[in-house]
Amino acid sequence: MVIKLFSSGDGGGVQHILVLLVLFVAFGIVVAKWVVEIWWKPKCIKQAFEAQGITGPSYKLLVGNLLDIKKIMSSTMASATDRTLSHKIGQRVDSHFLLWSKVFGDPFLFWWGTEPRLAITKSDWMKEVLLNKGGQYEKIALSVRCVTKDIFGDGLAVADGEKWFELRRLFTPFFYVGKIKAMKGVMETSILQLMDDWHEQVERARTSIVEVDVHKELQKLTAEIISRTVFGSSHREGRRIFELQRIQQRLTMEALVSFKLPGYRYLPTASNRLKQKLKKEVHNTLSRIMKNRLESAQHETGPDKFGDDLLGHMLSANDAMSQYGSKKPSFKLSTEDIIDQCKMFFFAGHETTSLLLTWALMLLASNPDWQQRLQAEVDQVCQNEIPDEEALGQLKYVSNV
Ligand code: HEM
Repeated sequence: MVIKLFSSGDGGGVQHILVLLVLFVAFGIVVAKWVVEIWWKPKCIKQAFEAQGITGPSYKLLVGNLLDIKKIMSSTMASATDRTLSHKIGQRVDSHFLLWSKVFGDPFLFWWGTEPRLAITKSDWMKEVLLNKGGQYEKIALSVRCVTKDIFGDGLAVADGEKWFELRRLFTPFFYVGKIKAMKGVMETSILQLMDDWHEQVERARTSIVEVDVHKELQKLTAEIISRTVFGSSHREGRRIFELQRIQQRLTMEALVSFKLPGYRYLPTASNRLKQKLKKEVHNTLSRIMKNRLESAQHETGPDKFGDDLLGHMLSANDAMSQYGSKKPSFKLSTEDIIDQCKMFFFAGHETTSLLLTWALMLLASNPDWQQRLQAEVDQVCQNEIPDEEALGQLKYVSNV
């Protein structure tokens, strides 16, 4: 191709050709990169694992095994005729793992979209991964981190390496036995409130039986407790986070198991707009709580001037760091960091515990003999009083549950 570079009359034409060329090359690079990501890399990774004797379900362009997982899960649910209670929940929760480990052995390689995942089932290998704090094993993959970011932010549970170490050092004192014991009052108040509420419902209904959705009730209970532990006096505002995180959780679960084209989350779809709205409201609520706390701390003195809850603990640690000035290599949390930690503790603290309590109650309901044993023990040890530390230590059957 010949281009007349110095012809004044054709200057515009040459420029157009050059722009087109640049665009063409840029487009070519993007496409080539994309092809490498979605085809070449998975192919190489697959071959490298196969050379070590590790196989797995075949990779499908872009979607990996996401559609296979959906298919296996829905066929398992459709064919599940056995509705009896069983501790063997693996078949219902992660049937693709069970199926593929039988077919391909342990470990096996599968694909979350274009991301390779190595599945292991041997417990000593799991220990090796979970106990490893040297940073060789990433806690959470980038693709998952993008999706869960609205709920956890970059909180402790997803932090790695140096950041994880510093955060752990910061939070560990907050979970010393003495501190946990001091939270007992908060737990008692919230549980008694729930009990009163259930009694009231029975009285209002004028029957001895009232149907309640136990899981929802326990979610409210644990959200109330964590809200008081993290936000103390600002717990009412904190509870709004619970409602917002419930919706975020549903959207996140949907996004985790569905395939979306790269960049999809930036499109102004209804669900993306809702996600942004929720994220903004969580952020604004937490910023407001923090701002109020900082303002009222200005009129206080003493070690608890920021409050004796988790938020106060973070603000006070940050304040102490500022006192060192630049002399100490300090780890200081930014406003965004504090917001992320609040989001993460709030979610990690209420979702896990409410599921555990629901599961325990469900098992007790299906094992009436154990229920009676526990009731008899509680009656005998507690004598209709709220158990203190000593009484808790005597509850043998309860601690077995
Ligand atoms: C039944 C209750 C709970 C269960 C089953 C549970 C389970 C877990 C598991 C499996 C991990 C990952 C451990 C790892 O990566 O090595 C974890 C981490 C974590 N959990 Fe829980 N959890 C529960 C309650 C709580 C509560 C009440 C809180 C906060 C108040 C909490 C906060 C955290 C935090 C901050 C981490 C990250 C720790 C770190 O990476 O250093 N969890 N939890």
